[in-house]
Amino acid sequence: MVVMGSFKKEDGRSMCTAFAFLLLLGCSSFLFSAVEASVSYDSKAITINGQRRILISGSIHYPRSSPEMWPDLIQKAKDGGLDVIQTYVFWNGHEPLPGQYYFEGNYDLVKFIKLVKQAGLYVHLRIGPYVCAEWNFGGFPVWLKYIPGIDFRTDNEPFKAQMQRFTTHIVNMMKAESLFETQGGPIILSQIENEYGPLEYEIGAPALAYTQWAATMAVGLDTGVPWVMCKQDDAPDPVINAWNGFYGHYFSPNKAYKPMMWTEAWTGWFTEFGGAVPHRPVEDLAFSVARFIQSGGAFINYYMYHGGTNFGRTAGGPFMATSYDYDAPLDEYGLFRQPKWGHLKDLHIAIKLCEPALVSANAYVIPLGNSQEAHVFESESGACAAFLANYYENSFAKVSFGNKHYNLPPWSISILPDCKNTVYNTARVGAQSSMMKMTPVPMHGGFYWQSFNEEPASYDDSSFTVTGLLEQINTTRDLSDYLWYTTDVNIDANEGFLSGGNDPVLTVLSAGHALHVFVNGQLSGTSIGSLEFPKLTFSQSVKLKAGINRISLLSIAVGLPNVGTHFERWNAGILGPVTLDGLNEGRRDLSWQNWSYKVGLEGERLRLHTLSGSSSVEWTQGSFVAQKQPLTWYKTTFDAPAGDSPLALDMGSMSKGQVWINGQSVGRYMPAYRASGDCGYCNYTGTYYEKKCVSNCGKASQRWYHVPRSWLYPTGNFLIVFEEWGGDPYGISLVRREIDSVCAYIYEWQPTLASYLMQASGKAKKPLRPEAHLMCGPGQKISSIKFASFGTPEGVCGSYRQGSCHAFHSYDAFQRLCVGQNMCTVTVDPEIFGVDPCPDVRKQLAVEAVCSR
Ligand code: GAL
Repeated sequence: MVVMGSFKKEDGRSMCTAFAFLLLLGCSSFLFSAVEASVSYDSKAITINGQRRILISGSIHYPRSSPEMWPDLIQKAKDGGLDVIQTYVFWNGHEPLPGQYYFEGNYDLVKFIKLVKQAGLYVHLRIGPYVCAEWNFGGFPVWLKYIPGIDFRTDNEPFKAQMQRFTTHIVNMMKAESLFETQGGPIILSQIENEYGPLEYEIGAPALAYTQWAATMAVGLDTGVPWVMCKQDDAPDPVINAWNGFYGHYFSPNKAYKPMMWTEAWTGWFTEFGGAVPHRPVEDLAFSVARFIQSGGAFINYYMYHGGTNFGRTAGGPFMATSYDYDAPLDEYGLFRQPKWGHLKDLHIAIKLCEPALVSANAYVIPLGNSQEAHVFESESGACAAFLANYYENSFAKVSFGNKHYNLPPWSISILPDCKNTVYNTARVGAQSSMMKMTPVPMHGGFYWQSFNEEPASYDDSSFTVTGLLEQINTTRDLSDYLWYTTDVNIDANEGFLSGGNDPVLTVLSAGHALHVFVNGQLSGTSIGSLEFPKLTFSQSVKLKAGINRISLLSIAVGLPNVGTHFERWNAGILGPVTLDGLNEGRRDLSWQNWSYKVGLEGERLRLHTLSGSSSVEWTQGSFVAQKQPLTWYKTTFDAPAGDSPLALDMGSMSKGQVWINGQSVGRYMPAYRASGDCGYCNYTGTYYEKKCVSNCGKASQRWYHVPRSWLYPTGNFLIVFEEWGGDPYGISLVRREIDSVCAYIYEWQPTLASYLMQASGKAKKPLRPEAHLMCGPGQKISSIKFASFGTPEGVCGSYRQGSCHAFHSYDAFQRLCVGQNMCTVTVDPEIFGVDPCPDVRKQLAVEAVCSR
């Protein structure tokens, strides 16, 4: 049943009016015959111009890269087999002040969508306007919170009015540019709200009303294309409810006539400062996607396909890292993450080979063993596709299907586009792996730094004094991460601790997120919260003198929360109590004293991150440059390195602060916050969860910070670092990201797409042997073969070892065909490696080649 037809709205409407009498005959059928472009859906799939499609989509969030990167990212997504690019719309980036819109630079939404169109891909536009997304305040502008009577994401008139206004603004903008598919544009789907279902259970009746309102409001905007709500089991018709998660096969839409859509298949997970870096093995990701498709899934979106960077102060939180790499198929820098990108590309080709059967038949399931099954799609027109699944985590399964036998690796699915030949198995990776390196760019003696130290809480006209402690966000309105709280403490000369007793203990309770404590101008301690526990308590002895002592507390918000019930009400900053223990009087409560406040740093007020602002202070040079000192600004200039490999700043020697290049903020850095987590061995088999496979334990959660090439001038680039805590600027270096080495691990007789396609086209009579493809980055060549073994090699890329069986000429073919080349192909054939070293054994080829300039 077709639920939603679309058509050239204006044409349709005028025709309907002109031929009103046709209504009696059924105007809708008339309209459908006037279809020029349409997006619709039924129980099987989204249909575009009447055709059911299995759609592969990937999230690329435009503000998380530079516009100069967009064409390449989109092209790489297309080359990876994607049909659709999905993005959120980031309200707080587009409306920084009420009614003042911004759609320039990396917020040029229309340009982004037009580039997707130019590449021949579709767009899924998730307007939200709540987006979650590990983005500051979940995408809401902070000013929204201060609209009288507002209550976010519920049946609240001021909120709904703002949400409707912004959503309408975006829809109208898209219509004006003819970007909806029914207008000839690329947008085939939109999303309203984001994962509201779980909140609805908590909030109850007003939430139910809000859901209805949001759907009606969205549908009323007449985009001509379907709307989606994700994680929203009660999504009202005609809105489609969709699934988000690591797996999606168990999901079913709320109505039988809606297609099975997975709007977020998580390719990895986000990194938080203080957390280890998550990775999701591609064998498991591919398994989850194949499992979704075999269960009838028709739309799958990789969240993220390119994660990118949380530039400036856009990271949500608290404590979302600046890198939003996400272990996505395209890495933060826009380079291929291999084998993830390549293995998914192969998966998409395999799925597309099955598309005719998938869209026209419902699967029937044949058990093949205790934990094995076949999902078969057989259409009336004769198309047949089968998915053979082995759910065992630890063992292979030999199964029979049709009149053939198949060997299925653990936790894997084989895809048979003709119900006979395997072209792809989710656990057999044919794509190469790439090991990346960060190479320091030669800088003629390194950066020449100058420094400027700002005083703790230097007061000016913007400072004010009140009795008691203020909530941070209400005070800063998030114009800065920083809020100074300062008070004076009078210490009597008779205090016991002054004559040899224990120093008094200062205790500060803060709602978060980080705190530096200065006593009489000296940093006396630091306390840092975390994503899970943003609240913190500082409690340490402090050095006080007789007379007036100045206590200056620098409270830092490290990104506003982006998820949780009414996260907009969560507090930050020092709410107290603030106490001093160990005085003659015992405890003194400082909470209700006079406190002076200053929003932001002096250097922020002076705009030291800009060239003009930086000339307003005197900088220290040469051997006087501050090192390991808090509240220090550093500046230098540098020339852009030649070439086009992506660049990053290695901030490993610094502690916590922010970096700017040519006036633009690269983001917050925090290498001092070491990653906690369990970085043990990780197997691809078994159910994945975000903490299953992590790296960097005990090291900085994020050491490198992406510097988009397009931010640089050829010479004289202005680099500013603000260090809160104390670091060594001479350890900072500019690095280029490139491939270090490439590996392939191929099973002899591993089924391949190439072999299937050659046979299907009649160009080959029998199955072809698999091939190892190796490719270095642009401008690189294979300089040597680090390892090659045809036989029973062991280990993983970077640490392969020979096994008991090894062909002596394993290296030769690679030496001959690969060294000196940017890319090469070697067939996995015993003859190529000399004599078969162990004819009765199933062999593999493992190779690692070094890439150099
Ligand atoms: C989802 C949410 C996304 C993102 C993701 C985690 O629940 O819809 O916006 O936050 O979690 O990366």
